[in-house]
Amino acid sequence: MQEISVHDKVFVPFLSEEEIQAKVIEMGKKISQDFLGKDPLFICILNGAFMFAADLLRAMETPTEIQFVRVSSYGAGMESTGKVKKMMNLETSVEGRHVVIVEDIVDTGKTIEWLREYFTERNPASISVTGFLFKKEAFVVGKEPDYVGFEIPNKFVVGYGLDYAEHGRQLRAIYQLKS
Ligand code: IMP
Ligand code: MG
Repeated sequence: MQEISVHDKVFVPFLSEEEIQAKVIEMGKKISQDFLGKDPLFICILNGAFMFAADLLRAMETPTEIQFVRVSSYGAGMESTGKVKKMMNLETSVEGRHVVIVEDIVDTGKTIEWLREYFTERNPASISVTGFLFKKEAFVVGKEPDYVGFEIPNKFVVGYGLDYAEHGRQLRAIYQLKS
């Protein structure tokens, strides 16, 4: 794999398409076992998690529903603002449901913390969080994600749904900012 440019920055290959796909299959198996017969409700956090959620849903071996919400915490840059705003409403009731929040990446943890609170108030049977990537060194608040694909260093990444100022989402592999 080659270095790539997204806007003004250079990125180097970090996780290949094969590594990503193998991990998603493994996560799907695990989550299927844990929620067997429970009709879990995936809540995909737009925009970044759309690609991971699509693959994870297809890796599920037990009936699973999916809904989409949009939140924002990052602006156009590379620093988490920590301000979470919900932008798009959830139409399905989560009451009594086993909610699985599907996130592309957990960085400071502020987004998932905000989401856990938001859904807890709506009386689900359970709430778990799946973060495909987890920047453990950057994590400052709340409970760690229940399912993690890869723990990664605290460096900016793009690809597989993740963007840098809205570009790079289409990449099949994940790339890390070159330092
Ligand atoms: P947190 O609230 O700080 O945990 O931020 C989580 C959100 O920040 C994720 O849903 C991503 O949208 C975004 N984010 C965090 N790190 C990165 C990164 O390295 N690349 C792209 N987006 C990121
Ligand atoms: Mg996101």
